[in-house]
This record gives sequence, C-alpha cells and structure tokens, in this order.
Amino acid sequence: MSTAQLFFEGKTIDLPIIIGTENEKAIDISNLRDQTGLVTLDLGYKNTGATKSAVTFLDGELGILRYRGYPIEQLAEKSNFMEVAYLLIYGDLPNKAQYAAFTDEIKLHTLVNEDIKKILDGFPATAHPMGILSSLVCSLTAFYPESVENPTDSNINLNIFRLLAKMPTFVGWAYKKSLGHPVNYPRNSYDYCQNFLHMMFALPVEDFHPDPVVVDALNKLLILHADHEQNCSASTVRMVGSSKASLYSSISAGINALWGPLHGGANQEVIEMLDEIRILGIKPVDYLEKVKKKEVRLMGFGHRVYKNFDPRARIIKKACDQVLSQLGVKDPILDIAKELEEAALTDDYFISRKLYPNVDFYSGIIYRALGIPTNMFTVMFALGRLPGWIAQWKELNASKEPIGRPRQIYTGLGSRDYVPISNR
Ligand code: ACO
Repeated sequence: MSTAQLFFEGKTIDLPIIIGTENEKAIDISNLRDQTGLVTLDLGYKNTGATKSAVTFLDGELGILRYRGYPIEQLAEKSNFMEVAYLLIYGDLPNKAQYAAFTDEIKLHTLVNEDIKKILDGFPATAHPMGILSSLVCSLTAFYPESVENPTDSNINLNIFRLLAKMPTFVGWAYKKSLGHPVNYPRNSYDYCQNFLHMMFALPVEDFHPDPVVVDALNKLLILHADHEQNCSASTVRMVGSSKASLYSSISAGINALWGPLHGGANQEVIEMLDEIRILGIKPVDYLEKVKKKEVRLMGFGHRVYKNFDPRARIIKKACDQVLSQLGVKDPILDIAKELEEAALTDDYFISRKLYPNVDFYSGIIYRALGIPTNMFTVMFALGRLPGWIAQWKELNASKEPIGRPRQIYTGLGSRDYVPISNR
C-alpha cells in the first residue's frame, strides 16, 4: 500500500493512500489526531472525502457522471425514472420481474394518511412548497414510528416504497395548496410520472390525459437529477442518517438543504434572472458586466465539482430545444439564456474561473414549458433527487460508519469568569 508522509514537530507520520475503483486517490487521515494531535481544516469540504460510496461516480474535470457505472447520457436517453430509481437504490438495473414487483409495490403505498391533510391545511397559501414538502416528509416518522424504532431490513424497504410512493402526492398537494384548489388522489392505473402529472394538473371539473411528450421530458429531467454523489443535500441526508434518525427525518433534512439558492434553489433563481433581463430589456452582455463587477451572480453557472462542463447541462440544453418545439412553445427567455451562455463562454472572467452552465441553467425553461410554475422548480429537483438520497441513506445505514461529527478550530475568547448582571 502506498503512503504519504507528514513531517510535523520532528516526527514523520505515514498516512495510507486509499484508491477508489476509478483510481481516485485519498489520504486516509483516520488516525491523524491520535498520532499527532492535529485535525485538518477544509472549509466547504473542498478537499475532503466524507465517505466511501459505490452509488455514483463523477469526474468534474472530464465531465463524467455515472450512476452505478452507467453513463448518464445512456440512462437519460434509454431508461425511465423508476428504472433509474431501482438502479440507484438496489445497485443494478432491474429485470422485467423485478421492475414489475418494484413499481407494483410503490403503487400499494400511494395513498397518504388523511391526517396529513390537516398538516397541509395549517400552512398559509403563500407557504413555499419546499417548506411544505420537507414538513410532510418529516411527519411520516410520526405515522410510521417503526421506521426509527425497528429499523429491520424489511421495514427499511417498506419505508423506501412508502416514501417513493407518497412523494408525488405531497408535491401535488403543495402545489394545489398554493392555488387554493382541491387536492387530487393518486391514480394507480398511471405510471409514476403520469400519476405525478395527474396529482399536479388534474381538476375535478374536467378529464385529464397526461401528454406523452410531457411524460417523456419529465422522465428525462428526473433521471438527470436523480443523484450527484456527496453534494450538500446528500451529505446532509447522510449526516442526519448517521445519528440513526429515520429515513424520513434524514430526507426531510436533505430537502431543506436543497432549498438554498446556491444548491437546488438555483433553478428558480435562473428563471427569475432571465425574466428580469427580459422585462427590463437588458442586453445579455450588459448583464454579464454586472456579474463581472460582482453585483450579481450568473445563476445556473459554475459548479463546485465540474470545472470543464456539466454533462447534465448538455443533455438538458438539447432536450430544451426538442421539448419546446414538440410542445409548440416559443419562450423568449430561451433565446436570452443561449445568448448569455454564448457570451459567457467566450469571456475571460468565466473562462479563467472555469464557469460553465450547470444542470439548472436550462432545466427551468423546460419545466416552464411543461406548465410547472417557477416556485415549484426546486420541488421538482427534490422529486428527482429522492432515489439518490434514499440510495445514499441506505448505503450509510448498512455501513459501519460512525456518527458524523466534524472537529473545529476554535477562534473565540479564552476562559473568563462569569460577571453578575448587576456588574456588567
Ligand atoms: N457567477 C459569477 N461568478 C461566479 C459564479 C457565478 N455563477 N460562480 C462562481 N463565481 C466566481 C466567484 O465569484 C469566484 O470568483 P473570485 O475568485 O473572483 O472570487 C470564483 O468564481 C469561484 O467561485 P466560488 O464561489 O469559490 O466557487 P464554489 O465552487 O464555492 O461555488 C457554486 C460553486 C456555489 C455553484 C457557484 O458557482 C455559484 O454560486 N453558482 C451560482 C448558483 C448556482 O447555479 N448553483 C447551482 C449549482 S448546481 C446544483 O447545486 C444542483
């Protein structure tokens, strides 16, 4: 085994090198503190591998993304969301019988306890749907306490089915709440994506027929968002899960992490930015000047890991053109997005910082064409990311990893004596 050497206070310490299956190398510092009294400091975990994982591989320099070994390009073109969910959670593509059993099992659990509707009723109509979603998911621990009290393998599996099954219901209900419309109940004759569209768009006053173009586009978008190894929300799911919190509490925490504008919230911000440019009539190159002066960020650009291109962005850009033309939608913000991208990719500010469009730059434009409102975009991301979070949580849960508990470098005051309030 190769090692790295650390010289510190006259001592030499050998640190083992761990090599992943794609030849990724890491210095194993598990015994560093015992050997030296040192901890490491790595703000934002830019250099820190938090775990060993067999779920997703990505190479940010080469723009590679694979789920369980399968390239994202092949999955987005040939697979569907439920098949990819199975792949991520159980490690391999299902055969026909496994696929049928998996999707049938999910259909058994689509109904939601009616008391959850009372929780929904308690929210104001103006509530952001991400807040509603994380609360409803978290509430499932109360309805299924065995998820935390008796976490056997079969119970864990049951709760995975429940969560996958109920998520489209929660998302649809959060949307209906914002409209003041009556909520829908799931339709088990539909597949997962058809049922989701029914939960979102069906009205009691007329028939609803999911459009196959929309169903296909949705499958593709959800696949592209389904996992992305140790990002902010997945790491949150694993961190919460490491305390042996339930699947539901852990995923609810992941939803909250995703909500932030620097993570999944960016897809909403991209559309708001493009709309602002359109409404105010700003030229894309002039907007870039504001970005370069750091007055604003170019939302949907840049990525912590991808420093060449984001393979998901390429697929989404192509899909965006296709879907809009299939649906006969002409959206002026697509032209603005393309102009911004073209100008940014030839501008030294963006080139030198390795800033490229990320998954969120074009996804919102497709969601808009599918009739999904802007404040629901991050919720769509959560729906897509659910199988990845589940796979990450399940892997962590089955491992012997200890509870997540980082160290710190204390920068506060030294010891001082308490002063009674009368003397302060
Ligand atoms: N617009 C303008 N400048 C940017 C952008 C951007 N979108 N992103 C990074 N930069 C600049 C920074 O100002 C910094 O410049 P400096 O060296 O002159 O200070 C440099 O590029 C490095 O940026 P960091 O913020 O250090 O990069 P980091 O890896 O920490 O951030 C992040 C990555 C958060 C994604 C960032 O690129 C960003 O804020 N992008 C916009 C938000 C976004 O689209 N988020 C979605 C990410 S994908 C996802 O989560 C699904």
